[in-house]
Amino acid sequence: MTTEREMRLGTVQETLLIPLYGRAVENRKEESALRDPRAEEIVASIDYDFSRFDNLPSLVGAVLRTALFDLWVADFLAAHPTGTVVEIGTGLNTRYERVGNERARWFDLDLPDVIDLRRTFFADTPRRTMIAGSVTDDAWASAVAAQAEGPYFFAAEAVLPFLEEGEVRHVVDLLAENFPGSLLALDTAGPGIVGTQDQHDALSKVEARMQWTCADPADLSAWRPGTRLLDSRTLTGLPAPLHDRLPVAYREMLSGLAEQRLPQVEEYRLNLVQLP
Ligand SMILES: C[S@@+](CC[C@H](N)C(=O)[O-])C[C@H]1O[C@@H](n2cnc3c(N)ncnc32)[C@H](O)[C@@H]1O
Repeated sequence: MTTEREMRLGTVQETLLIPLYGRAVENRKEESALRDPRAEEIVASIDYDFSRFDNLPSLVGAVLRTALFDLWVADFLAAHPTGTVVEIGTGLNTRYERVGNERARWFDLDLPDVIDLRRTFFADTPRRTMIAGSVTDDAWASAVAAQAEGPYFFAAEAVLPFLEEGEVRHVVDLLAENFPGSLLALDTAGPGIVGTQDQHDALSKVEARMQWTCADPADLSAWRPGTRLLDSRTLTGLPAPLHDRLPVAYREMLSGLAEQRLPQVEEYRLNLVQLP
């Protein structure tokens, strides 16, 4: 059991338990969008009241988001098998287990207490390294640049909305200056989501709150000229290679949601950008 350690997780750090649980629950389903036996094992070994997240619709949303990030990373590694992937705010994500290969270089970055927890479940290898630090600090970028060559893919899944806008701008600058031309996958939440997050089914169960409101991910190009929005999706507009392999019940649920055009769904975007 990791009770003591887990209970000391900071406020924003605790949010990692939501997608972790989502993947564990998903793995138990007969028909699922994603398999993650490791998440199921980890959940079973952490003494935390995960039942607070049971049956929440956003758990499936988190799983679909992860599946799209997986697809983008898999596409990147197919094109660049010896490239470098950096999971920003990795939590207890298991993307490497799902889409990693033997030749890529992989880094998992998160705040120190998360990396301490992560080290109880994962070990560094010659090709896979955990880094403790904030994404807003320059030190991690120097460490990655010193240890691994490009091209680089940065996956910031469910991380940047928890930062202040000024911090997100700093992260974009940090990436563009240290890793020009690299790819960044990130999610963005519009005002209809950030403004109602106290009623959000999962976030209302924890203390952390989103800080950065992004009505339009194209704004990133204005922040840093030359930044290109390569793809931007809602959960109801997933790309065909992912959508078409989802269980039928999910496809029906998504088409029903698409008709309702709820701000909580339509203003949550999954984006792939190329930095200048
Ligand atoms: C909702 S969780 C997502 C975890 C993981 N990306 C996933 O999808 O399973 C948010 C994560 O962002 C991390 N995080 C928040 N602020 C951070 C910062 N300034 N630097 C690095 N990681 C941060 C948290 O510790 C947490 O692990």
